[in-house]
Amino acid sequence: MANTFDVIVLGGGPAGYVCAIRCSQLGMSTAVVERDKLGGVCVNVGCIPSKALLQSAYLAHTIQHSAKRFGIQVGDVKLDFSAAIKHSRQVSDQNSKGVGFLMKKHKVTVITGAGALQPGKKIQVGGDTYTAKKAIVIATGTRVKGIPQIGLEINKTTVISSDEALFLDEAPKTLAIIGAGAVGMEFADIFSAFGSKVTVIEMLPRALPLEDAESSNAIAKVFKKRRIDILAGAAVKSAKVGDNSVTLEIGTNGSAQTVEAEKVLMAAGRALNTEDLALDAVGIKLTEAGFIETNADLRTSVDGYYCIGDIAGPPMLAHKGSREGTHVAELLAGHQPLPIKYDNIPSVTYCHPEVASIGLTEDQCKERSLDYQVGRFPLTANGRARATLETDGFVKIIRDKKYSEILGAHIVASHASEMIHELVVARENEYTVEEVDMAVHAHPTLSEAVAEAVLDSLGRVIHT
Ligand code: NAI
Repeated sequence: MANTFDVIVLGGGPAGYVCAIRCSQLGMSTAVVERDKLGGVCVNVGCIPSKALLQSAYLAHTIQHSAKRFGIQVGDVKLDFSAAIKHSRQVSDQNSKGVGFLMKKHKVTVITGAGALQPGKKIQVGGDTYTAKKAIVIATGTRVKGIPQIGLEINKTTVISSDEALFLDEAPKTLAIIGAGAVGMEFADIFSAFGSKVTVIEMLPRALPLEDAESSNAIAKVFKKRRIDILAGAAVKSAKVGDNSVTLEIGTNGSAQTVEAEKVLMAAGRALNTEDLALDAVGIKLTEAGFIETNADLRTSVDGYYCIGDIAGPPMLAHKGSREGTHVAELLAGHQPLPIKYDNIPSVTYCHPEVASIGLTEDQCKERSLDYQVGRFPLTANGRARATLETDGFVKIIRDKKYSEILGAHIVASHASEMIHELVVARENEYTVEEVDMAVHAHPTLSEAVAEAVLDSLGRVIHT
């Protein structure tokens, strides 16, 4: 195997492997160093297997609650969590193999092992040293973490992370989830559908605290109907970890309460994989928050070393990492890619209904004293949503009053993850809401709710 390449990418997740493919497409000899499976967290223990489980959860819920209404009589419904896990593993493994296939197809060399950086654009993997002629791209991502300070160290039995939750044989009878971000809310949906009594504990005042308050409130209402308890504004004071259960002392707005659960799932952020890279040996600087310091072109503080994905800073999202990957590849090929507009990266939480957004929340518009107009459309008024009995949710558009550009868009809907992209394209291209309305939306579709919310922001809504 050659040990000199134009580009060496450290980490084979969605940031790293996409960067490698694009580098190779642009004529650079490229290698990816990966210590585990190709595809990273996203493919193996993140985005992909969790979506498979969410589909199982969705079907379990639909069969039990809506099948009869759709004219389908079902006998006793038996839920088999291990079968759902098996399906999710198959999907995940297939995807990881798919990344391997892509590496071969694009003639990217895969070096298996943990890489440590060395000065002079070198990487050491085991006893071998590899050299990059143009650049090394660091894309080593993040990993799960506990909160040992309050007694919640991940022990993989009673205190678990998403890494273990994705391999359980059965859903626990009771589950406490710490953190109501994307991970917490998605796993709350999954385990609740498979029979766990779920309590979600969130330190900030509401679930999905980064989303628009109306989205948080809408999803909290749906979860309440499903008997998922969300304790918001709640701090875990202490934890007693036993062999078969965990007892949490929680403080909420001055009052104290106890939550006991068979398992606790930690979903309160992730740790950065920077420790084992020998960054000091090369002189690569970190930010105060611990991310690798980069400039707008994702160059680190040392020439010839770039950084992309989760460890380059928030938002920690696979699609953001992939875009950074292609951006760096274009730069290395001597092109001048347009800057990445970080304000235009959509965010999606795939619980049911899904929560998707782009741009500013209404609170952020207020904080910035922007002159804005809100348009809303509830799914109860959308024919397609009524036909599928999925009327929980809405589309909310925040437009600039003077220029009509989209400041923010927020969707809670069964297919919000798909619907948001019309507005992603609109915002990226600085379309006005009038231009979104000019496009005829097919009937009957959930996307009509987007068109109607746009009209509502102009005072011209038709169907409410
Ligand atoms: P997160 O940072 O999105 O959410 C963690 C939540 O835990 C926050 O709301 C935070 O306020 C809360 N929290 C922190 N400490 C706490 C404490 N001591 N007690 C109670 N609550 C506490 O992190 P999460 O959900 O673990 O996800 C990790 C990363 O992966 C994020 O960047 C997320 O966006 C990304 N991700 C994205 C997904 C998606 O796009 N659908 C799915 C899963 C993860």
